[in-house]
Amino acid sequence: MAPPSGNDAGQSGNALDNLLTESRTFPPSAEFAEQANATSDLAERASADREAFWAEQAGRLSWTSDWDQVLDWSAAPFAKWFVGGKLNVAYNCVDRHVDSGHGDQVAIHWEGEPGDSRAITYADLKDEVGKAANALASLGLTAGDRVAIYMPMIPEAIYSMLACARLGLTHSVVFAGFSAEALRSRIEDAEAKLVITTDGQFRRGKPAPLKTAVDEAVAQTPTIQNVLVVKRTDTDVEWTEGRDLWWHDVVDGQSTEHTPESFDSEHPLFILYTSGTTGKPKGILHTSGGYLTQAAYTHHYVFDHKAGEDVYWCTADIGWVTGHSYIVYGPLANRATQVVYEGTPNTPHEGRHWEIVQKYKVSIYYTAPTLIRTFMKWGADIPAKYDLSSLRVLGSVGEPINPEAWMWYREHVGGNRCPIVDTWWQTETGAIMIAPLPGVTACKPGSAMGPLPGIGAKVVDESGVAVGKGGGGYLVLDQPWPSMLRGIWGDEERFRDTYWSRFAEQGFYFAGDGAKYDSDGAVWLLGRVDDVMNVSGHRISTTEVESALVSHAKVAEAAVVGASDPTTGQGIVAFVILRGGATEGGDIAKELRDHVAKEIGPIAKPRQIMVVPELPKTRSGKIMRRLLRDVAENRQVGDVTTLADSTVMDLISSGLNRGS
Ligand code: WTA
Repeated sequence: MAPPSGNDAGQSGNALDNLLTESRTFPPSAEFAEQANATSDLAERASADREAFWAEQAGRLSWTSDWDQVLDWSAAPFAKWFVGGKLNVAYNCVDRHVDSGHGDQVAIHWEGEPGDSRAITYADLKDEVGKAANALASLGLTAGDRVAIYMPMIPEAIYSMLACARLGLTHSVVFAGFSAEALRSRIEDAEAKLVITTDGQFRRGKPAPLKTAVDEAVAQTPTIQNVLVVKRTDTDVEWTEGRDLWWHDVVDGQSTEHTPESFDSEHPLFILYTSGTTGKPKGILHTSGGYLTQAAYTHHYVFDHKAGEDVYWCTADIGWVTGHSYIVYGPLANRATQVVYEGTPNTPHEGRHWEIVQKYKVSIYYTAPTLIRTFMKWGADIPAKYDLSSLRVLGSVGEPINPEAWMWYREHVGGNRCPIVDTWWQTETGAIMIAPLPGVTACKPGSAMGPLPGIGAKVVDESGVAVGKGGGGYLVLDQPWPSMLRGIWGDEERFRDTYWSRFAEQGFYFAGDGAKYDSDGAVWLLGRVDDVMNVSGHRISTTEVESALVSHAKVAEAAVVGASDPTTGQGIVAFVILRGGATEGGDIAKELRDHVAKEIGPIAKPRQIMVVPELPKTRSGKIMRRLLRDVAENRQVGDVTTLADSTVMDLISSGLNRGS
């Protein structure tokens, strides 16, 4: 693995130079600091006694039995947090707020894409989750069973997740933009017994079928006993009697009363699949007490959230970890009032997000850099038409945010008054790890600043030695944290190999990201150092797309790279050799792009497909993606001396530059 540099990290060299000479800082205003949840002594308290600090944070939750030990790291890298403690995650996110007299507070202002909306109070949420839990129990599901959730952003998706949590069922949410094949492999890996889905979903103003993909997937997954279907779009569906059930038939008539059972702090809460460096997605496993503690802790401090006052909006989809931790678990544990929006940001017009901010007086807004860059492209005059004065904290997640986008966000969305929290974390970390604390940290445009109190993160060189100010290398986590993954579902060896072998001697968790300290010691994330691409904040592995391409009858070989892209961060560029040495015929690029969409999902469609006669390989047969990235980014091709055949790059370059 090459040491990270600007190019290897997927950011263009120039952007990186700009990043590292960034000198603007934005200290918190006195006014903000005065009311902030975070105070400057937090970090000190955490470092004085980490375990006591985390125990204090776990006190944000209601436990039915106390833990005997904060952390058991004796079986590292498998952690146990709050050992012996018991709680019910759904009770913590729902019932206790009703019990404490906040049943009338709106939990979710749900906004449908076609313009329908629902206000769901905590009392409503308790009833809905109770009914759904009774329904799932009536289907014979018991604690420990796995349930796949393949749904658009409708309230029933959240009810489903919470009903699973309430019963101790382990949910596996699969992004509804993924293909039938992606759903099938995830159901199979987790041996799920139930899929919850919808007839269809609204996408860019039109209903699109969804259950058809489930039908295709479950035809090959014998573990599935039932398919539970919410009617959302009134799309015609095929029906398998005995297996398929309408939500309104099974759930609506249930009692709203459901007594929550307590589960062990380490009881599995969910599996969420994410891309790694091989073709097979990893089922990241999270458990209950530690996960919820850190989700709640970070949501409270990083967003400066005030229950009953703020209106919070995280624009993620529940198909990603951000939706799990910062739509469902963190905010609801903290009794947030939040906006949940079903649709796309430009349906029916490009001001939709700002219209929603204005309508609900959103005060905390959390989104991704790719969307901010899209808003920039659409123009500052669009947000300017709306009243955004309710906003007070802005967040960013998913990929490095470039300083230009940060400054635009600050000025055109935040009115130059809102702190911006750039939050670094991963599916594996479960919750935010590196971010400024609003009210305490002076922010720099483009930097995630530093690890949160209680978190141990550092930048190390090849041999695991911490680099100093101005130095760069690999980001590692050097202390266990409560919401850390507890493994990869069914694959202990892959868990050890992927995260714990690179710096085994030091016992560090290897995040797979390159990072640098600036001269003040602030952390700058530089992108992935492995074969994982980041397209619009979504993780996609090069191997995954390559496997999809070679599964097409016309493709003999394929190599995929992530090339820097002004809007999506990285764009997927594929180099393919066609069977029988064919060069090009028909609309092969379109055919292959559609094939990848079918195999993985539209988010994995290559931006560009180049048909080539050869691929650059080392003598041991490894594809040199670095050289292909040079071609994809229109740069002078780098050092070719380690190629088995050094003329290959000439062959590739001479046949190209026609685009596709
Ligand atoms: C990248 C998303 C820079 C990083 C929560 C990480 C970021 C991967 C940031 C995890 C950020 C996430 N700055 N890079 N603020 N946040 N990343 O699992 O490469 O979908 O390893 O989790 O996204 O992506 P995942």
